[in-house]
Amino acid sequence: MARSVRLVPTLPAATLLAAALVLTACGGGVHGTPGGSGVRDPYFPKAGNGGYDVTHYGLRLAYDPDAHHLTGTATLTARAAKDLSAFNLDLLGMEVEKVTVGGETARWNRAGQELTVRPHDDIGRDETFRVTVRYSGAPETVTDPDGSQEGWLRTTDGVLALGEPTGSMAWFPGNHHPSDKAAYDLTVTVPQGLRAVSNGELRSETTARGRTTSTWHMARPMASYLATVAIGRFGISRSRAGNLPVYTAVDPAEAAASRAVLGRIPEVLRWAERRFGPYPFSSTGAIVDRAASVGYALETQTRPVFPGAPDITLLVHEFAHQWYGDSVTPKSWRDMWLNEGFATYAEWLWEEDHGGDSAQETFDALYSGEYFDTEEAGEEIWDFPPADPPSAARISDPPVYWRGAMVLQKVRQAVGDDRFFSMLRGWAAEYRYGNADTADFTAYVEQRAPGADVEGVWDEWLYGEEKPGRS
Ligand code: TRP
Ligand code: ZN
Repeated sequence: MARSVRLVPTLPAATLLAAALVLTACGGGVHGTPGGSGVRDPYFPKAGNGGYDVTHYGLRLAYDPDAHHLTGTATLTARAAKDLSAFNLDLLGMEVEKVTVGGETARWNRAGQELTVRPHDDIGRDETFRVTVRYSGAPETVTDPDGSQEGWLRTTDGVLALGEPTGSMAWFPGNHHPSDKAAYDLTVTVPQGLRAVSNGELRSETTARGRTTSTWHMARPMASYLATVAIGRFGISRSRAGNLPVYTAVDPAEAAASRAVLGRIPEVLRWAERRFGPYPFSSTGAIVDRAASVGYALETQTRPVFPGAPDITLLVHEFAHQWYGDSVTPKSWRDMWLNEGFATYAEWLWEEDHGGDSAQETFDALYSGEYFDTEEAGEEIWDFPPADPPSAARISDPPVYWRGAMVLQKVRQAVGDDRFFSMLRGWAAEYRYGNADTADFTAYVEQRAPGADVEGVWDEWLYGEEKPGRS
């Protein structure tokens, strides 16, 4: 600094005192307004909340599978984006027992998934505040617009928490939208004999008076849909992939069928690091469970969940999501193809790099329809453009996966292999631990490949309603 400026003007003491009195009279001098009940997601308008950013979730949970009873205390550390007189959290079902803000009891009310908190004093813009919610009850199952089940799902021996796109609001209050990522510390207490497995690193596990408490730490920002807890009788295995700790939890009924594929985690990571760049987190692993109501795998951060023993392709898919989806997270649910198109493309690349079909061959088979068993399945991928699903029920539909991956193959054709592979790594590096949308992606490609003819790729493959012509 070349010069210093005195920012505090000299005022008579009486004036300062009068100003201080006025400030106290209106609660710290802040005239806040309520934060919004959503962040205008085009598909889930009530998801997330306006007016603040969560930086940390501290969750203390106790669950008894026999009684299906969950008790929780959620402590969120957040930063106000504006002056707030009230703000919302998303929580579906459960009974709220107490809410405090900055240690003081706060009033609250509930309407659907919206928990509106009215702190004793208004919160000033840029202020960091801490809100604690004590709650309990029987968590509800969330049925997605597409009919799949998520939330706090019961298994034969416990529970499996899955949150894409909105299930996490069934087991903890939060800012449940992918645009607000935060660090997590999670403590779970379960009956002795069961185990609770979550994201990140296991910090401690202790048993006392018939109950086991596990503490998990996720240091890197995580979207709430990627948080998980699996409770059950798991076979646990700890190993290393290079220096990276690997922690797997496998339902005994799936152990034999899982062993060989999970043994390939180090190999998949080595390959993925070569293709996508450094692995973004400080541990890895997998959860293989059995839940009758779950027919899908999920890329839960550091420790993907599989509903039964995965094959190598599915393992590659969920591991690729750690870069594309978990580290680089969509800004809204419209940008799902940035998750699923990339993870599907990773499957093609794995095959290409292991003596199978090239990505171009896979692309060609999809284009011609040969790839699928039925003509109907082959047609489905042209139902809508990957960057613009027609409704919330279709954000995980075939065009998002297959045509999303085809967009990447078209980019590869346009920019050439060298630039394409450096873009795969560069995209993961540029938006590491953050959020991105489709416009960020197209801008990124255009900037890294000036002069490449990608306009048509965007118009026809990414945004075009019709099946693009052969070119
Ligand atoms: N994102 C998961 C994957 O592809 C799939 C998934 C998770 C899903 N939740 C869903 C698909 C709900 C349909 C509906 O790895
Ligand atoms: Zn996926």
